[in-house]
Amino acid sequence: MRWLMNVLTSSIGAKALMAATGLILVLFLVGHMVGNLQLFGGPDMLNGYAEFLHSKPLVLWVVRLGMIAAVLLHILSSIRLTLLNNRARPTAYKLKRPISSTFASRNMFLTGLVVAAFVTYHLLHFTFRATHPAFATLKDAHGRFDVYSMVVQSFSDPLIAGAYIVALVLLGLHLWHAIGSTFQSLGLMSPKLQPIVSAMSLALAGLLVLGNVAMPIAVLLGLVARTQGVTLP
Ligand code: HEM
Repeated sequence: MRWLMNVLTSSIGAKALMAATGLILVLFLVGHMVGNLQLFGGPDMLNGYAEFLHSKPLVLWVVRLGMIAAVLLHILSSIRLTLLNNRARPTAYKLKRPISSTFASRNMFLTGLVVAAFVTYHLLHFTFRATHPAFATLKDAHGRFDVYSMVVQSFSDPLIAGAYIVALVLLGLHLWHAIGSTFQSLGLMSPKLQPIVSAMSLALAGLLVLGNVAMPIAVLLGLVARTQGVTLP
């Protein structure tokens, strides 16, 4: 606990912690998206993949606990950095007109809050199935939990699909700025590197948004076959 306090009290420590935990979360996002894109391979592929993940409870829980720690430390270091920045400039600028900024850079806290709200809903939706308890009864032809039907049925509702699309685009904006500013705040940026880092962060964030929104959009357009369904309230 003491090392954490030491890290968090120094600005560079908080920045490094934020970068390291952010990297872990981005790696999770890439892996999660690649896994989920198996939706396009059909029910057998996606359900087999989900069953495989759940067949190793020890690994699953080690990863889950690591992710929970990363999320908490990421949020803590972001709060700490905001406080340190405010302390460095106790009175706000009279005229707050940024010279070089984007919507993404000015709204990091807001987009971060949307991502947190999205993840909370997403866990209640697909992991705990608390928003739709009837999903728990879905089984495929092999007796496995039918993740495929759960996802397709959810995204057939334009309200749910629309909310996912909006949240995923905001997550993309958050990531786009976060990746670039990580290089900047760790002192790894140079005028030569700047265009490369900008292009790289846009490409990675863009890829994550496109890969993720492809799923609700494809379901809404009827491009993904529907299998069984449950009666939703
Ligand atoms: C359209 C995009 C997405 C789809 C279709 C999707 C699908 C799923 C599904 C089906 C599960 C439950 C897996 C299972 O229990 O077998 C899940 C869990 C999860 N998702 Fe997503 N997801 C998407 C995007 C995201 C995003 C953008 C994030 C993070 C910002 C995220 C974070 C998580 C987390 C943390 C879990 C819990 C993993 C666990 O059980 O340990 N997902 N997702």
